[in-house]
Amino acid sequence: MKTVTILGATGSVGSSTLDIVGRAPEAFRVVALTAQTNAGKLAALARRHAAKLAVIGEEARYGELRELLSGSGIEAAAGPAALAAAAERPADCVVAAIAGAAGLAPTLAAARQGRRLALANKECLVAAGDVFMAAVKAAGTELVPVDSEHSGVYQLMAGADAGTVERIVLTASGGPFREWDIERLARASPEEALKHPRWSMGPKISIDSATLMNKGLELIEAFHLFPVEAAQLDVVVHPQSIVHCLVAFQDGAVLAQMSCPDMRIPISVGLAWPARLPSPAERLDLVKLRSLTFESPDPIRFPALGLARGSLERGGTAPAILNAANEVAVEGYLERRLGFLDIARTVATCLDRAEQTGIVVVPRCLEDVMAADAAGRELARDVIAA
Ligand SMILES: NC(=O)c1ccc[n+]([C@@H]2O[C@H](COP(=O)([O-])OP(=O)(O)OC[C@H]3O[C@@H](n4cnc5c(N)ncnc54)[C@H](OP(=O)(O)O)[C@@H]3O)[C@@H](O)[C@H]2O)c1
Repeated sequence: MKTVTILGATGSVGSSTLDIVGRAPEAFRVVALTAQTNAGKLAALARRHAAKLAVIGEEARYGELRELLSGSGIEAAAGPAALAAAAERPADCVVAAIAGAAGLAPTLAAARQGRRLALANKECLVAAGDVFMAAVKAAGTELVPVDSEHSGVYQLMAGADAGTVERIVLTASGGPFREWDIERLARASPEEALKHPRWSMGPKISIDSATLMNKGLELIEAFHLFPVEAAQLDVVVHPQSIVHCLVAFQDGAVLAQMSCPDMRIPISVGLAWPARLPSPAERLDLVKLRSLTFESPDPIRFPALGLARGSLERGGTAPAILNAANEVAVEGYLERRLGFLDIARTVATCLDRAEQTGIVVVPRCLEDVMAADAAGRELARDVIAA
């Protein structure tokens, strides 16, 4: 029996995690579940999975949550400090599935516990990679990535001598606009961008997949998770989303990790590794698929990937500024204040201005990262307002 806490339980990854946990009641017991605003769904999940604690980020919703849980014996709490306290509550595994840089503080709190952290929140590693990994190392936390590509690399590298790895290749579906020309991209609506061809995900990551920023964030994530240089990380577009990643070794062998696209597979790995849980995920039938195709990402139509790589090479707080500016720009796009192509333009302008004003520094602690995050957001708001 493993005890599990889920940060971001009401989201796409959170719900998939609870689906797995609910199918194996003999294997898992839920300690704490968190959400930001959706008190109704949080209370229903906490009751269904007999959680000990439910935490809502927005303090104004505390009364609603307490009411919804009354008579259940489930403890209710609210606010940012309560989110971090939920992450610190003893549990064998914390699944970190809050969307965006908002997940930084609670995920870092989980990283300091010295237990297992199944990490879905990539923005944490993008914004605070060195600070975050130092906390993981100091606490002896077992970090298991949940992002499908990184989960694949993690599995492929198990038992491998890291020094023998030549390249790591992450695949990208190419998103819903893979074949759109630039004029059409300029008019792409949020509804069209949210229709991911292969994966069902939350809104922020769906837009990031359409711009390819998601793959850029994943490059930075991979850089922090695996012992390779930035130049050893590649991205190829693979529209079928069957091969999630490849690891090439110095003897010429290339290992690929494949499955039908279903987040329950990498989440199961995050929960149970090195054990394997039975899964309802669709089974891969290569004959039915007939062909798997690969192509290079187009840097003209999808400049976000290059911006992310550039920020990784620049180092310091550049990735935190990129991430913050991207979050604000994605929000602006979803609210129709920006066009699709303006997302990457806004991020590029913010990175230039950050460089010109000398706010890219080497972060020594979480506060430095938070300051860079705040500066990136302010720059993006200024650029959008201009
Ligand atoms: N979805 C996928 O398939 C997938 C795959 C790989 C990696 N990821 C990564 O996993 C993370 C979660 O993605 P998702 O698609 O599951 O997101 P999502 O569906 O939008 O869910 C986000 C979760 O975080 C909570 N949340 C939102 N803002 C918050 C805040 N300010 N403070 C605390 N909690 C907050 C939400 O609560 P409310 O419901 O109350 O708003 C919800 O529980 C992201 O970092 C994403 O990049 C996702």
